[in-house]
Formats: sequence, C-alpha cells, structure tokens
Amino acid sequence: MSQTGPRSGQPLRLTRVSKAYGGFKALEPTDLVVNAGEFLTLLGPSGSGKTTLLNLTAGYVEPTGGEIRIGERDVTRLPARHRNIGMVFQNYALFPHMSVGENVAYGLNVRRLPKTDIARKVAGILSLMRLDGFAERPVQQLSGGQQQRVALARALVIEPDVLLMDEPLGALDKQLRRSVQLELRRLHQRLGRTTIYVTHDQEEALVLSDRVAVMDGGRIQQLGTVDDLYDRPVNAFVAGFIGESNLLPVRVLSTAGGQALVDVEAFRRTISVETAPGAVPGEPASLLIRPEHIELAGDGDGVPAEIVEVIYLGELTQITLRLESGQAIAARQITDRALQTGARVRVSWKSGHVRAVPHFPSKPTKTEKADA
Ligand SMILES: Nc1ncnc2c1ncn2[C@@H]1O[C@H](COP(=O)(O)OP(=O)(O)OP(=O)(O)O)[C@@H](O)[C@H]1O
Ligand SMILES: [Mg+2]
Repeated sequence: MSQTGPRSGQPLRLTRVSKAYGGFKALEPTDLVVNAGEFLTLLGPSGSGKTTLLNLTAGYVEPTGGEIRIGERDVTRLPARHRNIGMVFQNYALFPHMSVGENVAYGLNVRRLPKTDIARKVAGILSLMRLDGFAERPVQQLSGGQQQRVALARALVIEPDVLLMDEPLGALDKQLRRSVQLELRRLHQRLGRTTIYVTHDQEEALVLSDRVAVMDGGRIQQLGTVDDLYDRPVNAFVAGFIGESNLLPVRVLSTAGGQALVDVEAFRRTISVETAPGAVPGEPASLLIRPEHIELAGDGDGVPAEIVEVIYLGELTQITLRLESGQAIAARQITDRALQTGARVRVSWKSGHVRAVPHFPSKPTKTEKADA
C-alpha cells in the first residue's frame, strides 16, 4: 500500500540479530531489511519471537548477537531513547494521570523542544488522528479506540524514523478494530513511516501490509507479499498458517525443474506437482491443496471420496470429504444445492494449484548447554 505517498522513514536493517535467554533461543540469528516507508507485518503463533524482534529493534532488549541499523546509523548499542523509534503497545501504556495533550507532548518535552513548537506539533497530530478538542481530557475518560489513537499520536509526534506496533488493536472489539485499521492505513499512506506491525489477525495483515514475515520457533520462516505466502509457501508451517489448507503427507520420489513426483498415500496415487525448493527425496513433506482448488465430479478419473458434511455459507459451500484411505479433506465450492451428504464423488484439483512443501524444523531449538 505504500506504492504511493511520501517516504519519510529510514530503512531498517537487522543483520544476524539474535536473542538467547540462558540456553533458550527466543530469536535465532535473523536477517531482515524493512525498506524506507514500507509497512511490514510480523505474523506468527504465541511465543514465536515477534515481540522479541520488536523489542530488540526498539532497544528495550539487548541482542545476544548481530547488528541493527536505521538508515546509516548503527544503533545496536544505543539506548532506546536515542534511536528515534516510535512504539505502540497492545495495552495503550498511556500515562494515566496526564491529559491527552500531556501524553502526546511527553516525547517532545523529553527532547526539550521549545514550548510553541510542542503546542503546534501536538495540535497537528491530534487533528490528524481525529482527536481535535481532546487535548485537555484525562486519558481515563476515553474509549479504548480513542486511547489507542492517543498512543499512536504519541508515537508519531516525535517523527520517528521507524514505527513499531505490537498488536495495537488487540484489545479492541471487532468493529472498532476495523475502523482503526482503516485509520492506520490512511495514516500510513499519508506519512509513509517505516513500520513493523505485529498482529495475530491475518485479515488485518492483508489490509495493512506491503510484506508479511511469518515467524515460528524464533525464526522468520518466510518473508514476502501476501500472495507469495499464500500461493508459494516455503514449508508446511507457512502453508498451514496462512489461509485454509489441506496438508496430506507425501513421499517425494524425485524433483526436477520446480516439479516433484510425489507418492500421495491418502490418494493411493503418484502425481507430479509444483514443489517448494526444500521438498526433496528422503525428507518429510506434505501436499498442499487449498479448499477452493478442489473440484468435484460425479465420475471421471478423480480420487474416489464420499461427502460427509455440507455447510452452506451463502454464496459458498464448505464440504468435508472422506477419501477411501480414511483421510478427511476440506473443499469449498460455489454453492450448488445438488451436493448432498453421503454422495460419492470424484475429487480432482486445479492443476498448478497443488504444491509439495517440506516440513522444516520449526520448534525453538535449545542449545546443548547454556552458552549464550
Ligand atoms: N525475559 C525473558 N526471559 C526468558 N524468556 C523470554 C523472555 N522474554 C521472552 N521470552 C521467551 O521468548 C519466546 C518469544 O517470546 P515473544 O514475546 O517474542 O513471543 P511473541 O511471538 O511476541 O508471542 P505473543 O504472540 O504471545 O505475544 C517465548 O518463548 C518467551 O517465553
Ligand atoms: Mg508478543
């Protein structure tokens, strides 16, 4: 989304940045470049290292190894307050006994800006956040959404080189989330700050991000556009984490030119499919089939299956099928009332849309002893 609009941030570069607590690696050595003005989202399960990566970047946590650069500056050993980074947390973290205006002015006061400049900047950012007239209000008298907009205003008013947001909308209800998301999107288009954003919500990642990094086990498993992640996942974890998926265990027999010959036990067949580079003979792998890429026919040479559940969702229908091997798979079709539970069908798939993916180790690794 930052294809248009200003570029007022600096690029951020992490090189082999890692964090260990005793023998536990919260973040494996990680390389990451966030382009100037880019909006990058970290997606991943609880404990995967998202907050650790943000806190290292902000300077709240000291790295075990590696280097962090903002533009030309090496900030690796710089205290947080000298990094010129704006941070927004999940739970507002506003100063409860200050007014909205005092909260927003805080970072500018610390920087000892002249009073008139502070007043002008605070008024400007409050207006941008649609909080005109709120300056004198105690923050306790604000709604959740308003408080989070104050937190954003406080992070943005210092004109940060990099803006970091850790699940900033996590405490808001769904409707409010949606409206603050759109606000964030508008704001980013307008200001173009280099941003790292953490969320659990895939849809939110879609709305906001230029690129998404999927994390698991203290590693970035894959970094790419949402399309890359959905259409070309590098491993079974990413395939299972982004969108809905059927993942069927396979044996990889051979690979050549981006194709793999795989033995699909659930189908009792050997088929040729596109493959991720890591799926090689001898390593565990799965076949990825998205529910919307499954085709059902009354006859033909598809894999025989029985419809065991049909759920009408309006325009689409969610179908559960059981193959003769006993394996269940999910399909999604444009609603066709002729589909009935108990019917015998033949399952095929849109060619080019199934993919072999390796099972990478994705659990946090423990070092042999605490040598960090
Ligand atoms: N101060 C600490 N001491 C020891 N272990 C820590 C510390 N901080 C984080 N960890 C561990 O590091 C791992 C990564 O934590 P982190 O907070 O980065 O996860 P996260 O991806 O942000 O998860 P969530 O989605 O739950 O916020 C977790 O296993 C966590 O328990
Ligand atoms: Mg976290």
